[in-house]
Amino acid sequence: MGAFVNPLRSLILAAAGNDVIRRAVATAPVSRDVVRRFVAGETTADAIGVTRELVAAGLTVTLDYLGEDTTDSALAEQTVRAYEDLLGALADAGLAARAEVSVKLSAVGQLLDEDLALGNARRIATAAERAGTTVTLDMEDHTTTDSTLRVLAELRRTWPWVGAVVQSYLHRTESDCARLAGAESRVRLCKGAYAEPAEVAFTDALDVDRSYVRCVNALLAGDGYPMFATHDPRLVPIIDARADFHGRKPGSFEYQMLYGIRPEEQRRLAALGHTVRVYVPYGVQWYGYLMRRLAERPANTAFFLRALTSRR
Ligand code: FDA
Repeated sequence: MGAFVNPLRSLILAAAGNDVIRRAVATAPVSRDVVRRFVAGETTADAIGVTRELVAAGLTVTLDYLGEDTTDSALAEQTVRAYEDLLGALADAGLAARAEVSVKLSAVGQLLDEDLALGNARRIATAAERAGTTVTLDMEDHTTTDSTLRVLAELRRTWPWVGAVVQSYLHRTESDCARLAGAESRVRLCKGAYAEPAEVAFTDALDVDRSYVRCVNALLAGDGYPMFATHDPRLVPIIDARADFHGRKPGSFEYQMLYGIRPEEQRRLAALGHTVRVYVPYGVQWYGYLMRRLAERPANTAFFLRALTSRR
């Protein structure tokens, strides 16, 4: 990836924190169409509708109610309720066996108090258990990694199926993988989406990819259920080959990709018999998420700017 050394990425991530740009983008009339490519919509019903379509296409889903860095406990409460509502709706729609949820602890109070976030995450896990599905804790910037892994360990005492996320751009991740790869453990491996300093993260794209492959091996060698989250056309065949080497059959690990990114590849892998899970974000707070997706790929930025300036 190395995207965080890419000046365009730094610029877009800086813009993501700029209120003037945020307002301009959020209120532009065509934003809605562009946002819809990457975001399912704003409501539970929108999320269920997109989930139903993806499941009908042979895919599985993880749903993310958008929001992060909450410093307001009322907002954290609102997020918990949104997940409870969603999980109930997934069960009612008969979709819970194919769709789980992804949760950012910063959206449920982690910045205010780790115990508040833990309590809120417990409520979401309880609702997931009732619905018959699972929860994965997204990983955010490196200042939250230890706290998130502590909350994960606590949750796993009751719900061993709560999934972890590790990011190959962090120096620490290879050893985290070895530690997290035990029986029953679900671990998503991604490259990492935040702008991290060189003290903690690889800054060269090739080093991030090499680390990714080392982590693939560590997870496949363990007894857990690895979830490989990447769109990288070079990494997918490597994962396939390493899974073969480790005697892993389809179904003992999965591929994950984001909604709207390489949809044909998602369907190709599913047609080969792999479990492919699509990460589907929804909710009104789509701005930060969208900016990270644009920062990853200049072509997406060009697409977005064209749409913003077109007269459609
Ligand atoms: P990379 O960005 O290097 O791209 C490799 C290739 O993939 C590109 O050359 C292109 O062909 C294709 N591609 C990648 N992005 C594209 C795009 N936006 N549009 C079109 N093509 C694209 N991060 C995090 O820090 N914490 C988390 O919890 C998660 N969770 C998560 C879940 C899931 C299911 C996914 C897929 C990703 C995440 N991420 C994440 C994001 C992740 O860390 C990373 O930023 C993105 O997946 C992009 O990295 P890639 O591995 O795709 O490679």
